[in-house]
Amino acid sequence: MIQQFPANFIWGSATSSYQVEGAWKADGKGPSIWDVFCLIPGKVKNGDTGEIACDHYNRIAADVALMKAMGLKAYRFSIAWSRILPAGRGAVNQQGIDFYNKLINELLAAGIEPWVTLYHWDLPAALEFEIDGWLGNEIAAVFADYAEVCFTHFGDRVKNWITINEAWVVAILGYGHGVFAPGKKSNDLPYVAGHNLLLAHAQAVHLYRTQFQQQQEGCIGITNNCDWREPLTDSNADKDAAQRALEFFLGWFADPVYKGDYPAVMKERLGDRLPSFTEAEKKSLKGSSDFFGLNHYTTMYASDATNNKEEGSVYGNGGLSEDQDVNLSIDADWKLTDMQWAIVPWGCKKLLQWIAERYNNPAVFITENGCAFDDQLVDGKVDDAERIEFFKAYITSIGEAIDLGVPVKGYFIWSLLDNFEWASGYSKKFGIHYVEKETLNRIPKASALWYADVIKNNGL
Ligand code: GAL
Repeated sequence: MIQQFPANFIWGSATSSYQVEGAWKADGKGPSIWDVFCLIPGKVKNGDTGEIACDHYNRIAADVALMKAMGLKAYRFSIAWSRILPAGRGAVNQQGIDFYNKLINELLAAGIEPWVTLYHWDLPAALEFEIDGWLGNEIAAVFADYAEVCFTHFGDRVKNWITINEAWVVAILGYGHGVFAPGKKSNDLPYVAGHNLLLAHAQAVHLYRTQFQQQQEGCIGITNNCDWREPLTDSNADKDAAQRALEFFLGWFADPVYKGDYPAVMKERLGDRLPSFTEAEKKSLKGSSDFFGLNHYTTMYASDATNNKEEGSVYGNGGLSEDQDVNLSIDADWKLTDMQWAIVPWGCKKLLQWIAERYNNPAVFITENGCAFDDQLVDGKVDDAERIEFFKAYITSIGEAIDLGVPVKGYFIWSLLDNFEWASGYSKKFGIHYVEKETLNRIPKASALWYADVIKNNGL
């Protein structure tokens, strides 16, 4: 063992409803925007959909047994809003409630803490049609009503709530580049959607804190995603560019939650295109997360683009690059995962230090970290040595951040299972369990066995 983690460190793994559940219209579930998006030709690689996904919906007992076998301390999953409220609001679907009750109860019986995300991108389609989804004025209140249904039914047993998963992805990929549902392309709409996502988060947290938290004694927060941005050179212009890129990426959603407003650089550069908060909204946002949820996958170099703008890649440019004047690049020596994301473990440590400094040492839970590789089943086994290397290096880097005083409290591997990877369909494998195509049987990869040891030893 080379690195011991703090006692009570939470070792977990994560999934999301649309990516694993399947059963897309079973037992009264309503359609979500991802159900619809997948039906549009050309949106998802190979025409894949989440109609069956990993069939998690019908395999709860077996999947929890897998988690138990690994000694997992926590399982992060999301609730499919339209399974609970088929039309997004109004009538509650009891069969949906029953499903999540079953999952939660199985987890608790196996000694695994449920970490529940309320929104991991599968908005009820009815809300897209009726109130313009995340662009509409009503959405924050409607989200809080949905959250209330969840707190009421599950809050006696669920003690860890995440309101929104990766508002950045929803805003930029869903409303900017249009590559994720609902597929809108615009330079302005991401800022409107992002604004409403933040207000929705704040309303749900306010409701939990005023009506549930005292008796249920749980915690609630938001999960944001961010890559690290390293200045390409030592020049002040590049250092400023990297800082600007981080503020446009993570600061966009974390500053309102920790400081009560958007970063100054966003307000200056975006002017009227960035909606503003009322004083009451600022107050409700500031301090609205009991922990800092972070999803982290990769790192890029940032350089000043004021006089030489380059076209960024869809996922890699960290947002609408023209608003930031930042060029992004990677080192030719960095190894890439199957998503073409560079493996740069030290970037994780630097990002954790940046968060600690900017937001005054909040407790951080890394709610996702992982990598896709083209794993193959050979003689009944999957030897994903590259994934083990990836996790070793990232967990080491997190351990170093902890040694430097960053209060990281938990780590969730993305993902428990190979699953539906959004626009990439099933072509990208992120799981520590291989899911056989024909039977959907699960086979623990070498990384799952390795992770079980990490959990047992509380470290590497
Ligand atoms: C995150 C997302 C997950 C998963 C992962 C790998 O952005 O929350 O759902 O897809 O990326 O791409």
